Amino acid sequence: MQTAYFGRRYMLSASHRLHSDALSDEANRKTYGKCNNPHGHGHNYVVEVMVGGPVDSNTGMVVNMATLDEVVQTSILQRFDHTNLNLDPLFVNQVPTTENLCRAVYTVLRDALRTCKLEYVRVEETENNFFQFEGD
Ligand code: NI
Repeated sequence: MQTAYFGRRYMLSASHRLHSDALSDEANRKTYGKCNNPHGHGHNYVVEVMVGGPVDSNTGMVVNMATLDEVVQTSILQRFDHTNLNLDPLFVNQVPTTENLCRAVYTVLRDALRTCKLEYVRVEETENNFFQFEGD
């Protein structure tokens, strides 16, 4: 099967605090530094979504951009944008690092996408930090 890829970027602003229940308070401070501050801090994440599939012979597209936008809006942005990530059920048992955010976005979006395959999710946390998750 021939696969074409389509990628799109979304903005997601959220706050988090990096703190692991598996570590002592001191180990948390050592591991996460200022990101362990009890008050948390925010990021303007750039969430990059890459989908793939055959080019539909009728539309000439892998996926309709409006359809992808709708699914991302409903499943990801409405859930995570302008929230405290620590309070989302997905992060009750895992630290809301951007590695884990990447994985959470991938898992939720993969299950919500019906018409094309989610190839990977890449999240830019800052100008210099980016993370990627590709599933299994
Ligand atoms: Ni942070």
